[in-house]
Amino acid sequence: MLREATQATAQAGKDGIEAPVLDIDPFTETVLADPYPFHAALRETGAVVLLRPYGIYAVGRHEEAKTVLSDDERFMASAGTGMYDLRKPGAWRPRSPLLETDPPEHTKLRAVLTRIISPFVIRKWRADFEVEAERIVERILDLGTFDAVKEIAEGFVLTVFPNAIGVDIPHENAVAIGDMNFNAIGPNNEIFQRSLRKVEPILEWYQKSFQRESMRPGGFGEQIYLAQDASELPADSAPGLVRSFIRGGMDTTIAGIGFALNQLARSPEQWDAIRTEPALVRGAFEEAIRHEAPSQTQFRTVVRETVLGGVRLDADRKVAIFMGAANRDPRRWDHPDSYDIRRGAAGIHLAFGSGAHICIGQMIARLEAEVILSALARRTATIEIAGEPSYRIINTLRTLKELPLRVTRA
Ligand code: HEM
Repeated sequence: MLREATQATAQAGKDGIEAPVLDIDPFTETVLADPYPFHAALRETGAVVLLRPYGIYAVGRHEEAKTVLSDDERFMASAGTGMYDLRKPGAWRPRSPLLETDPPEHTKLRAVLTRIISPFVIRKWRADFEVEAERIVERILDLGTFDAVKEIAEGFVLTVFPNAIGVDIPHENAVAIGDMNFNAIGPNNEIFQRSLRKVEPILEWYQKSFQRESMRPGGFGEQIYLAQDASELPADSAPGLVRSFIRGGMDTTIAGIGFALNQLARSPEQWDAIRTEPALVRGAFEEAIRHEAPSQTQFRTVVRETVLGGVRLDADRKVAIFMGAANRDPRRWDHPDSYDIRRGAAGIHLAFGSGAHICIGQMIARLEAEVILSALARRTATIEIAGEPSYRIINTLRTLKELPLRVTRA
């Protein structure tokens, strides 16, 4: 009897148990406004759960989230990194030519693009970024009290990043496009439909913004077109690639800078620390995107039946990876809900993803954050919250809508 029971358990271990069911819709206004109770339920229900409202799997623990993001033999990106399977008829979204490919196709593209935005290239942008940061800091010190999302995070990123690509993006268009793009990764719900209606009047402009004629000479967008001309990149891939950079690079970095400011304004000790020890600025940003992951959810598709965290997964089903939940998994982090710039989260948190698709723009995001936060730390004696912050409601992006701050000159 005992031997039979042991054998049965061993068999269940090898084959995995059926995924426990979680009957919560994570893409409602209520959950998106405060996703943390859902994240806790997701982690506690199981290593992998079946998210009943969508019939897809979901992972929220650090270990399984990292595996799904990085094991491209078991979890493919080429069926779409959004909720819907791009292989099925009626796919309504163009495929991302970089993110929604798997090795070896992805590897070749990634190598060319990594050269185009190499650390050597990026380093040369620092001086221009610093000029813009000084201008912004001077302005907010004059204002005294202001909305830090508009004046600092958006003001800075929406100037320096489009300049680096070599495109013109009006600030108000960028916000509407960001809402739509990050909603489109999730379900086709009313939140997405609302954002789609908002961008309708500017869709024509948006389509043109990543075409060759919109690239200013000297930006890395132009380099992508030149690499296509030299057949280093597939024919006709350049517009989609430039679009991927515009999509991936703006709202995420704005969110991360906003989160760092929100937390630093609540922690005078940590603000003083980055003022006296400027090297801590990097930790302040890295911890901000661990503590609140801008890109909250990405998706993969199960290649063939497999077992993950002791749970059996059927082939062809989508898996939602909740990076925001993994970044606060108590199995991985001590005091996961607190913001600690000395934690050393870089390289461990999943805010930039993991594996082959790990964010290609992470050095750019880090440079932007370092430049603006350092300029602020040098010139600003105190920084404090001047009103309750609010969040934008977007299916897969967490970001502040408004962050009222008050500052004094150093
Ligand atoms: C704080 C800022 C940023 C965050 C939180 C972030 C987050 C991410 C994440 C989570 C992924 C992986 C997606 C997946 O595996 O499904 C990713 C990939 C990507 N990111 Fe970022 N990103 C940031 C900044 C940027 C910037 C500045 C750029 C543009 C220069 C950029 C462009 C991209 C691209 C093109 C990919 C796809 C890479 C590939 O498939 O090989 N991101 N990003």
